Amino acid sequence: MTAFPGKPVMPKDATPAPPSTMIIFGGSGDLTKRLVMPSLYNLARDGALDPAFRIVAVDIAEHDEDGYRAFLTETAKGLAEAAGSEVDAKVWSWLMERTGYVQGDFDTPATYEAVKERILANEPESLGAVFYFAVAPRFFGPIADHLAAAGLMEEGEKEFRRIVVEKPFGMDLDSARALNTRLLAAADEHQIFRIDHFLGKETVQNVMAMRFGNGIFEPIWNRNFIDNVQITAAETVTVERRGRFYDATGAMRDMVPNHMFQLLAMIAMEPPNSFDADAIRTEKAKVIQAIKKMRPEDAAQYAVRAQYAAGSIAGEPVKDYIEETDVALDSRTETFVALRLEVENWRWSGVPFYIRTGKAMGVRKTEIAVQFKSPPHTLFEDTPTNQLQPNALVIRVQPDEGISLRLAAKIPGRAVRLAEVDMDFRYADYFKRESSTGYETLIYDCLVGDATLFQRADNIEAGWAAVEPILEAWANMPGEIHYYRAGSGGPFAADVLIGRDGFSWFPLEDKAPK
Ligand code: BG6
Repeated sequence: MTAFPGKPVMPKDATPAPPSTMIIFGGSGDLTKRLVMPSLYNLARDGALDPAFRIVAVDIAEHDEDGYRAFLTETAKGLAEAAGSEVDAKVWSWLMERTGYVQGDFDTPATYEAVKERILANEPESLGAVFYFAVAPRFFGPIADHLAAAGLMEEGEKEFRRIVVEKPFGMDLDSARALNTRLLAAADEHQIFRIDHFLGKETVQNVMAMRFGNGIFEPIWNRNFIDNVQITAAETVTVERRGRFYDATGAMRDMVPNHMFQLLAMIAMEPPNSFDADAIRTEKAKVIQAIKKMRPEDAAQYAVRAQYAAGSIAGEPVKDYIEETDVALDSRTETFVALRLEVENWRWSGVPFYIRTGKAMGVRKTEIAVQFKSPPHTLFEDTPTNQLQPNALVIRVQPDEGISLRLAAKIPGRAVRLAEVDMDFRYADYFKRESSTGYETLIYDCLVGDATLFQRADNIEAGWAAVEPILEAWANMPGEIHYYRAGSGGPFAADVLIGRDGFSWFPLEDKAPK
């Protein structure tokens, strides 16, 4: 998965999104260069943007329009090269011809007047405007206020006005609520698109297709048949150049209430009444709200935080987290989290949900493993039940997207002995499309006004409400953090956490074929 895949990421028959102007606040920032622009390029290449589509980047950095385009071009070339692919010159110039730049302060009304002029200049061809907040969170509120004050959130009969807000959406429940209140004072809920790029990933959406498009899973999708669910997002990347943001944020806030809970919601939600955006988002909010709030005294047992220490990843040395740029030398920020959660509802009562996510781990893998209960009685004397692994459905979100079902099969020979085998479906074997970063789908959906894959305010607040007791408990015992070697599978404490229930984590390393 790369920002510049060589192959199409959108379906061949994607209709171009209605013509509009996308105003990107934070035009010089990392997110714009590395993800938003490459995604727009991919959409342009796949014919998903209208010829009247325009981009207006806004930032404080001094650039004239040509200079800004040159700056984008250079980054794009570098990214494509690193991914072993190339930027198609024709597509890139198509996009650049439509890209302008407004140099200005986010807190000055004149900036919004300049933006307004650009939007008007693009009308009547354009049908609307999307304001993309690719900025540090402290600017979310002020930009929304200014947009409203400049009359830029007012929609016409046909003209839409939408805001795309990046994460982190708040730092805790109170700040998320305050931000929601502020955005809702500037715009209506239907105009606010809170982005979580995990939801744009094909395999994440495929969880719903798998559960609700097949008859065989739903009858066994409950506490009677499922023993536990494990959700893993292991990353090999370190904190890289993001020390300032990351050290103040930590793995819990960065990954859990958003990405990890979205995966949990897909797996655990009730079937929605329809495929309508709000029907789906209502079910997701309900299941996130059902995550049991951890008591402070339980946090030490059911929540593990850890920080990476020096090690090596793919043969490259990695230094201690605290030695990274812009990280405090006495930092106790977690770069790894493991949790044991419970979902308090009829379907999931008693089924533990284990979550683990970390940076600088030995393997990059995001997957959901659903482990079923063991057969009630073993007939196979040569294979004691405790040596037989129970059935498991593993949904691989990335890389090597696909689904596999772990089964027991007879080892050839006279004796009846069993071994584990996998029935495996790989996306790449069936579908020609490249998996995208998630941004293409979401930007396209926002341009066409489909909010299904965006977070509603109640989803976000439910996520914060579930992690807040843990964050509070941690704040009260600041020194208690575990360590793990960079390049390893995480801290031993995470194995203890799951081991207490008699389970173990699904291995991060892929099995060698037998
Ligand atoms: C981002 C986090 O939201 O998601 C990053 O801020 C993390 O820390 C990233 O690396 C993971 O996304 P992906 O698509 O690379 O799995």
